[in-house]
Amino acid sequence: MEKKNKKAGFSNRLGFILATAGSAVGLGNIWRFPYLAARDGGGLFLLIYLLVSLTFGFSFLVTELALGRRTQKHSLELFGSIKPRWNFLGKLTFIVPFLIMTYYPIIGGWVLKYCFSFLSGQGKATATNNFFSNFLNLPGELIFWMLAYLFLTSIIVYFGVEKGIEKFSKIIMPGLVLIIIGIAIYSLGLKYTDINGETRTATQGLKIYLLPNLNGMTLNKFLEIALDAVCQVFYSLGLSMGIMLTYGAYAKKDTNMESAVQQIDLFDVIISFLVGSIIVPAVYVFLGKDAMSQGPGLLFISLPKIFNTMGLAGQIVGAIFFIMVAFAALTSSISLLEAIVASSIELFKVSRKRSCVLNSLIIAFLSIFVCLGFNLFYFDFKLPNGQVGQLLDIVDYLCGNFLMPLVAFLTCVFVGWIVKPNFVIEEMEFNNHKFKSKNIYAFTIKYVAPIIMLILFIESTGLLNLIYSLFIKN
Ligand code: PHE
Repeated sequence: MEKKNKKAGFSNRLGFILATAGSAVGLGNIWRFPYLAARDGGGLFLLIYLLVSLTFGFSFLVTELALGRRTQKHSLELFGSIKPRWNFLGKLTFIVPFLIMTYYPIIGGWVLKYCFSFLSGQGKATATNNFFSNFLNLPGELIFWMLAYLFLTSIIVYFGVEKGIEKFSKIIMPGLVLIIIGIAIYSLGLKYTDINGETRTATQGLKIYLLPNLNGMTLNKFLEIALDAVCQVFYSLGLSMGIMLTYGAYAKKDTNMESAVQQIDLFDVIISFLVGSIIVPAVYVFLGKDAMSQGPGLLFISLPKIFNTMGLAGQIVGAIFFIMVAFAALTSSISLLEAIVASSIELFKVSRKRSCVLNSLIIAFLSIFVCLGFNLFYFDFKLPNGQVGQLLDIVDYLCGNFLMPLVAFLTCVFVGWIVKPNFVIEEMEFNNHKFKSKNIYAFTIKYVAPIIMLILFIESTGLLNLIYSLFIKN
C-alpha cells in the first residue's frame, strides 16, 4: 500500500484539491442540480441545498477523506478493517457508483450529441421546441452517443491515463467557471414575449430561483424538497459512494484537510449555484412556470434557447460550453468507473484490464436498457416522491434518493457511535493542524446528521407519504 500510495498519491495540496474537485464537479452540478432546483420551485430547494452543503456536505467530506487517509484502505475493505461486522457497508457503497454508471453515460452522450450539433453548425436546431424530445425517441441515436461517451471513459481507465486528463482539466475547469459566469451575466438581460402576449423577464425568474416561496407548503412537500436537496449535496460531492474514501487514501499526510475540504466544497457549491442561476430563469423566461417541472431534459431544452439569442456568437459559445461540460463529466465518470474497476479487482480477483472491459460491457448492456426506457420500453412510473419518471429516473431515484441517505445514515452511526468522532478528528489534526470546526463536526455526525438522514431515508421509501395521507390529511 505504501508503495502504491506513493505512486498514485497526489504530489501536493493543489493537486489533491484539483483532482478531488474535478471528480466532484460534473453532471451533478450542471445537469442534475438545475433540473431539481426548477422542479422543486427554486428558493426553498436552493436554501436547503446551500445550508446542507456547507454543514453536512462539509462534515461528510471530512469524514470520508479522513477515514481514507487514516486507514489507507479502499472503500470495499475500509469499514471491515476497523470493525469486521461493518464489512457490509463497504459492499453497499460499491453498489451506488455502479448504479450511477448505468445512466451517467447516457447524459454524457446527450452532452456529446449537443457538442456535435454545435460544432457541425446545427446549434440553432437544438433550440427548437421538439429537438430534445425527438432525440429521445430515436433509440439508435441515444445508444450511439451513450456508447461513444462510455467508450471515452473506458479507454481512459483501461490505459490508466487519468493523469493526462487531469492536466487538461486544470485548464478546462477555470474555463468552465469563466464561461458559466459569462452566460449568467448575459442571461440577466433575457426577456421573452410568448404567443399569449405574456412577457417574462430573467429578473422574475431569478426571484423564483432565489426566494423561498412557502405558499401552500405542506410538511410532506417540505420533506420531498429536503430529500431532493440533501441527496443532491451527496451526489454532487460524490459522497456515500466510497470514492472520496479512496481520494483520502491518496492524500498526503501533511495536507491541511480542513481548508482543502472547505475549498472543494465551496467550489462545488458555486458551480451549481451559478448553473442554476442560468437555467432556472431561462426555462421560466422561454417556456413559462409550468415547464419548470419537466425534469432531466431541462438543461438540454433551455440552454440552447439562450445561445440562440446570441446569434452567430451563440453557436461558438454553445460549442465551447458543451465541450467543457463533456470534460467535466468525463473527469467524474472516470472516477466512478475507476472505483468500480478497483473494487471488482479486489472482489473477483481479476486483472485491471479485464475488470475494466467486463465492467464496461455490463454497464453498456444496462445503459442500453435504460436508453430504451425513453422510447421502445416507455412507461410512466410513479416514484415514491410523487414524480412520474422513466427507467433513468427510477435508477437515479434508487441511488440518488434511496441508497445515498441509507449509506450516509450508516456512516454516521459508524463514525458517531462505533469508532467515535475522535477517530476522524485525530486524523484531521495530524501534523499539528488545527481542526477549527471539530466540536460542531462531532455534534453533527453524532446527533444531527443521523436523525435527519434517517427521516429522509424513510421519506424516500414513500412510507411517510403513506402515513401522511392515511392519518394527517383526513
Ligand atoms: N459528483 C459527480 C457529479 O456531480 C458525480 C460523481 C459521483 C462523480 C460520484 C464521482 C463519484 O457529477
